[in-house]
Amino acid sequence: MGSTHPAGVQNSGSKYLPQVSSKNTNISPNQQLLPLTTKINSHDHLEVGGCDITTLVQQFGTPLYILDEETLRTACRQYRDSFKHYYQGESQVLYASKALSCLAVCAIAALEGLGIDVVSGGELYTALSAGVSPDKIYLHGNNKSHEELILAIQSGITIVVDNWYELHTLVSMKSSVIGNMTGSNDPIRIMLRLTPGIECHTHEYIRTGHLDSKFGFDPNQLDELFSFVSKQSAINCVGLHAHIGSQIFERQPHRDLALVMVQWLSKAASLGNAMTELNVGGGLGIKYTESDDPPSIEEWVKPICEVIQEACAVLNMPLPKLLCEPGRSLIGTAGITAYTVGSSKVIPDIRTYVAVDGGMSDNPRPITYQSVYRPVIANQMSAPITETLTIAGKHCESGDILIKNAQMSKTKPGDILVVMATGAYNYSMASNYNRLPRPAAVVVANGEANLILRRETYQDLIKQDCLPERLKSKELGVSS
Ligand code: LLP
Repeated sequence: MGSTHPAGVQNSGSKYLPQVSSKNTNISPNQQLLPLTTKINSHDHLEVGGCDITTLVQQFGTPLYILDEETLRTACRQYRDSFKHYYQGESQVLYASKALSCLAVCAIAALEGLGIDVVSGGELYTALSAGVSPDKIYLHGNNKSHEELILAIQSGITIVVDNWYELHTLVSMKSSVIGNMTGSNDPIRIMLRLTPGIECHTHEYIRTGHLDSKFGFDPNQLDELFSFVSKQSAINCVGLHAHIGSQIFERQPHRDLALVMVQWLSKAASLGNAMTELNVGGGLGIKYTESDDPPSIEEWVKPICEVIQEACAVLNMPLPKLLCEPGRSLIGTAGITAYTVGSSKVIPDIRTYVAVDGGMSDNPRPITYQSVYRPVIANQMSAPITETLTIAGKHCESGDILIKNAQMSKTKPGDILVVMATGAYNYSMASNYNRLPRPAAVVVANGEANLILRRETYQDLIKQDCLPERLKSKELGVSS
């Protein structure tokens, strides 16, 4: 199937297909718009993981999150293998589960040898329930609750300490309650999060002495911080962490970060803290539109490893265990969302709206960040692109627009509209706005689809509601 229609009109589906060729098997998922297993089948339908999307929709309904296991696993392996290849020391890739936290995804990441970065008691509980080994779980957060800290300590995971308040809290918790609760005298395993002063926007970055960020210790307080930590027997500080931003396409910011972090490690050592781990965070971007051109996973990993190795050689330091924690670039491209097309509204000379059966509750990124996505119609992949349509959600909010001015084929009610690259920060940021039940999610592989998140029901929606006795009345037909 060619990418242009005989009449010179573009063909909608194939222009987005992954650029997989027999020569290039090492294709980086984050540089594609659709999952690596995507095909157009003989019915002219979109197929992912060997599953026809229209069949999945018949079976599981819409909206439906669809996750391609092969794409996720490929990204995990590329991170892991790139570190093995370019780094002479030990390394550990962590999946930033804030991108999509559920049992199945944590399990796939863990089976690929990854650890998990969690940012709340809920994400921690999910990772532990999926069977992830506590020594591969790292807890972040700028305001962790006592309950979250206790769960972390009892589980034996590593806590990435964000600020002085948390540091003092941990020291006093250890001496008061924790020892008694766990019966363990082991110090609490921590890392310290520092604010590197490297601020990233998607296509530019700035380096400043003081960064306005709610996260992390001020690097101007390193002397005080490192000498405090070195005196505490309640904690065992194993390393340093920093994260500079998300959806980053440039490579220089992470090079700068890597260098600064090695210098911090060296300073820590000079102040009596022999730390062995260095976590450079996540942030590698993905392709959401044809014009997005992020580096590959390998291109992101390589310079970080090189800078750290060179800096350690110059400073005569042993190589730290190197960690990173990508989210979006592991799972973003693996996910797509299928919707059913419903009503439309033509406003002559202005715009045509086409509405789908989801919207800002299942994908809040367009309304929150003005993020741009691309659609295809899964049941007519080769139809020519002749229309400019605005894809609206079904919420009672004018701003509930999924895609503005999408170039696409003609569509009619009942068509299956697929939005690409929704694997990261869609389900995890979903809400029940307007009391819409959250969609189901399936993982697809080798022609098989398995449910990984059940579709919410109306009963689920009122499950947490409480109707006080005094409001139960026969008048409303509700009795106690
Ligand atoms: N580590 C830390 C400490 C983070 O805060 C984040 C993301 C990551 C790792 C993973 O970053 P990634 O590799 O996914 O870029 N909701 C926003 C993204 C917020 C990212 C927050 N932190 C969005 O939808 O674009």
